[in-house]
Amino acid sequence: MNALLTQLRALVGDAHVLTHDDPATDLSAWEQDWRKRAHGRALAVVRPGSTDEVAGVVKACVAARVSIVPQGGNTGMVVGSVPDDTGTQVVLSLSRMKAVRELDAANLTITVEAGCVLQELQETAERAELLFPLSLAAEGSCTIGGNLATNAGGTQVVRYGNTRDLCLGLEVVTAQGQIWHGLGGLRKDNTGYDLRNLFVGSEGTLGIITAATLKLYPRPAARLTAWTAVPSLDAAVELLGLAHQHLGAGLTGFEVMGQFALSLVNKHFSQLRVPLWRDTPYCVLLENSDSESEAHARAQFERLLETALEREVLNDAVVAENLAQAQQLWHIRESIPLAQAEEGLNIKHDISVPVSRIPAFCHETDALLQREIPGVRLVNFGHLGDGNLHYNVQAPEGTDGPLFLKSYEEKVNSLVFDAVKRYHGSISAEHGIGSLKVGKLPLYKDPVAMALMRQIKLSLDPLNLLNPGRVIEP
Ligand code: FAD
Ligand code: MLT
Ligand code: ZN
Repeated sequence: MNALLTQLRALVGDAHVLTHDDPATDLSAWEQDWRKRAHGRALAVVRPGSTDEVAGVVKACVAARVSIVPQGGNTGMVVGSVPDDTGTQVVLSLSRMKAVRELDAANLTITVEAGCVLQELQETAERAELLFPLSLAAEGSCTIGGNLATNAGGTQVVRYGNTRDLCLGLEVVTAQGQIWHGLGGLRKDNTGYDLRNLFVGSEGTLGIITAATLKLYPRPAARLTAWTAVPSLDAAVELLGLAHQHLGAGLTGFEVMGQFALSLVNKHFSQLRVPLWRDTPYCVLLENSDSESEAHARAQFERLLETALEREVLNDAVVAENLAQAQQLWHIRESIPLAQAEEGLNIKHDISVPVSRIPAFCHETDALLQREIPGVRLVNFGHLGDGNLHYNVQAPEGTDGPLFLKSYEEKVNSLVFDAVKRYHGSISAEHGIGSLKVGKLPLYKDPVAMALMRQIKLSLDPLNLLNPGRVIEP
């Protein structure tokens, strides 16, 4: 292993190969996942500064038969970006590769390196008076490489799609250390198999994304946010239908938040002043983006909310008066995962079912969980506009979190995933499989799809050196 480390240092520079040999170096930031579900031990954390260096690192690791765990901002939810505990894996961090290579305003595209932090990318687009619409609570730390590798969703999918839909081209280092030059701003290209879409969502198991060409959009003239209290989930789904009807392509966000989820924000971040949550089972956050004017957006929003009130699909609503108020409302929504983490270890489910079936799914599964594990607390929130719920499960009040997970995680997962299957849904809408769901995937995914995925993995990474144990077992 020493020979490999020497070679890696020669490739990327001493300062960019971090190991446990130096007692002053703390590697926990790369070895522990965001949710504190796993703490591994790396042979080394290697931080290349260019695509050629990434290719060199991969070649050296392949020659030494050492496996590689690609890492961006390490904000993933499914334990996919940290090493196992053997001390034999190299964490390949893309954090130094953050250059914006090109912004083509006329083509509405931007080409950036994989380590570019999402928020920096959004700000670069904004400076050019354009919009990069991907938006999620981790945007201050997650990287575009990680977003692409997980096909991240976030809060604007209802209008702009997942990260996959925003990607036009990729540069990838293969498992053999070759560079695939697939960048480019084409919106049409039917020259054979779609390699780009193979790497997007592959969670570091098929190749290392080093750069991407992404779509930009014109910035809306106005963005308005409303916070509403709805009497039930059925009403929330009806409100979604009305919002589609009234706002058309202006509907850029539709987030649902259960009362218990909001009570956690109220408990752990009381300074945020959550509106309307005490007397309603669910709140919904809506966003209307308008290409005309704020007055037009407001008039449209008012018509929508009046109709919804008349039809009794909402009880109350607050429309943000200005940008600061809108940001405050979004901040409350985005604080739910953090409040949940403050409350203690929990079981996360990032599921999707057809929007129309979400109320029935929740009625049935809520009752099932309550029956099987009395006192269990459901932290239910998410991207209702996309049929994607974070159907999370917190231990009963006063119960020890780790002990609860040890005793019930398997059972809770099976109950929830079986229900998802009955409703023709997916066990991962946006966070991916990582290692947390790798054992479950074969039970819920079509067997022919699993076999094809295995063949793809085997042909692209025959030595199983790229993020082994994630997504798919060989
Ligand atoms: P990492 O966590 O470092 O890595 C994630 C996976 O991608 C790993 O398997 C890793 O090996 C692989 N990977 C990373 N970089 C590369 C690369 N360059 N090439 C190949 N593989 C790579 N997700 C959503 O979809 N929607 C949300 O709304 C959302 N909200 C979140 C809110 C919070 C508070 C947090 C902490 C996370 C949230 N996430 C959400 C999870 C989400 O997956 C990540 O935030 C983000 O997409 C991961 O980016 P990252 O750079 O941190 O990747
Ligand atoms: C979100 O939408 O906030 C997330 O994807 C995070 C979570 O599931 O906790
Ligand atoms: Zn989410």
